[in-house]
Amino acid sequence: MTNEVYSPGLEGVIAGETAISTITGGLSYRGYSIEDLAAHATFEEVAYLILYGDLPKRGELDAFNKRLGAAATVAPQVIDALRLIPPKASFMDVMRSGASFLAHFDPDAGDNSHEANLRKAERLLAQMPTVLAARHRLRSGQQPVAPDAKRSLSGNLLWMLWNEPPTDRAERAMDVSLILYAEHEYNASTFTARVIASTMSDLHSAVTGAIGALKGPLHGGANEAVMDVLAEVGSADKAEKWIRDALAAKRRIMGFGHRVYKHGDPRATYLKTLCAELAVETGHQDMERMADVIESIVVGEKKLPPNLDWPSARLYHYLKLPVDLYTPLFVVSRVVGWSAHVIEQSDNNRLIRPRARYTGPEAKKFVAVEKR
Ligand SMILES: CC(C)(COP(=O)(O)OP(=O)(O)OC[C@H]1O[C@@H](n2cnc3c(N)ncnc32)[C@H](O)[C@@H]1OP(=O)(O)O)[C@@H](O)C(=O)NCCC(=O)NCCS
Repeated sequence: MTNEVYSPGLEGVIAGETAISTITGGLSYRGYSIEDLAAHATFEEVAYLILYGDLPKRGELDAFNKRLGAAATVAPQVIDALRLIPPKASFMDVMRSGASFLAHFDPDAGDNSHEANLRKAERLLAQMPTVLAARHRLRSGQQPVAPDAKRSLSGNLLWMLWNEPPTDRAERAMDVSLILYAEHEYNASTFTARVIASTMSDLHSAVTGAIGALKGPLHGGANEAVMDVLAEVGSADKAEKWIRDALAAKRRIMGFGHRVYKHGDPRATYLKTLCAELAVETGHQDMERMADVIESIVVGEKKLPPNLDWPSARLYHYLKLPVDLYTPLFVVSRVVGWSAHVIEQSDNNRLIRPRARYTGPEAKKFVAVEKR
């Protein structure tokens, strides 16, 4: 039986059920508001919450952190493979290949049980930061820095990128951005992951596919596009003219608008404050002013509020991270949400296979090649 209701882009369509997160009444993960989590939790606590369904007790958290620390070292062949990827490859393509390549060395490859999926999810969560940092250093002609199991995931990530310990504020800023990126219901990449999982494929395949979906500028790629916009504007005094010209030219302004948050993205509101604090510490007040001018005009003229990518791009810039790492950082965090959705889908699976409305020609008779 075909239900003839059709919504372009599946807008407003309920495509499945989930107990992982909801955007109703603000964004919450497993019942906890993201504001509460971003203010009080660590990224590891949030990752545990999303994967296992509840906040960890002390002993559970310590054991989780220990497992992540132990899993962060990747097989040497993975580092060798990163060396072989041409220097010009896009960083998101490297992340996609990295997730795929890690599958070959996972001891649970081929086991799609609930327990094995959790173990694979933990390993991917621990290993993707290592892949990201190693590739960044290799392409800059530097040797990769070994993961330090004593550090938090965010602290270790910055350590492996910089080969120097991050300040507490830098580590916390990274942690909060990862908390806010971790999970977001049935977004395009998560839906991709669930479709792949629904065929009874495996977790690494689902995450690899999800990375491909996240790469696009209408989804994860927007945080990099935002930075290109800010660089193009240049300074606060040029912001008003730039944005008025851009709106008059009907340009799509990256970092604004959202399919489901028509009245504001709660993650953007939260990160904006952190961004402003970090701007003062790192001497980027002019960029904050520039962003404020653009934001107030886009909101005022187009009624389009900023999404999470608007402040996160600046936050990563203030942390001195190269622009092409922004979407890969989103990957590092969203591995958690994707994995939880793969596990939820696999635990209660039905193949996802919608129908299409046919718009092609009427039935035709086959004509032999000589007679066409
Ligand atoms: C996220 C996004 C794809 C959601 O889009 P959507 O729900 O499919 O909405 P549409 O693309 O159909 O846009 C609806 C209208 O708003 C306008 N609009 C939406 N986002 C806009 C933006 N960032 N800048 C300018 N106009 C925008 C569209 O031009 C369209 O106007 P129209 O009806 O006059 O043609 C869209 O807002 C966008 O492209 N934003 C920029 C990219 C971005 O920041 N992505 C990250 C999302 S977290």
